Amino acid sequence: MCAVDVRPAIGTERLVLRGLVPGDAPAMAELAGDFDVAAMTARIPHPYALSDAEWFVGYTQGRDPRREVNFAIEHRQLGVMGVLGFDGTDPRRPEVGYWLGRPFWGRGYASEALKAAMVWARGDWGRNAVWAGHFADNRASAGVLVKAGFLYTGDVEQRFSVARDEAVATRMMVWLA
Ligand SMILES: CC(C)(COP(=O)(O)OP(=O)(O)OC[C@H]1O[C@@H](n2cnc3c(N)ncnc32)[C@H](O)[C@@H]1OP(=O)(O)O)[C@@H](O)C(=O)NCCC(=O)NCCS
Repeated sequence: MCAVDVRPAIGTERLVLRGLVPGDAPAMAELAGDFDVAAMTARIPHPYALSDAEWFVGYTQGRDPRREVNFAIEHRQLGVMGVLGFDGTDPRRPEVGYWLGRPFWGRGYASEALKAAMVWARGDWGRNAVWAGHFADNRASAGVLVKAGFLYTGDVEQRFSVARDEAVATRMMVWLA
């Protein structure tokens, strides 16, 4: 039996964060198919097909949640808006990442999701430190991380963006419980 369960989901005023299911794939493919979404992430390719989203959902369902947990970010009325994931493959340095579809930007949803996810990470996932990195040209994600309590470590790593097909300066941040 798994020590960590992504059910019940994390609830906020406007959102539910829950495990991904196959029915999420069409919305994910449409929203993450936007180059401006993919280009701010390390791993989302461009173009991003339905089969890519279906593969990712299956991948997340096969992961040990003690090591890696991915949530659909679902609006209570509007449906699936994006994804937020914790990667604890390196147990000394778990990382969080997220994306939202463009129609949902600028309304505080990512901040709402990340703040709730960090409460979950401390309480349910049992982590007292979580890292994140945003590409240096991503001011929106910088704002989200600062609002959720992340601090700059001062480290800048070169991280590869599959969509851009190049390494991008990435400003590292850390959150401490
Ligand atoms: C980054 C992203 C998740 C932000 O989502 P969002 O819901 O629009 O963010 P929020 O509304 O919670 O914004 C939080 C803060 O970020 C800042 N911010 C948001 N959008 C911004 C923009 N376009 N430019 C500068 N700052 C911005 C603001 O300080 C804002 O706080 P405020 O509204 O109180 O001023 C979304 O743009 C996205 O998914 N982009 C593509 C993928 C991506 O960048 N993922 C993160 C990889 S590290």
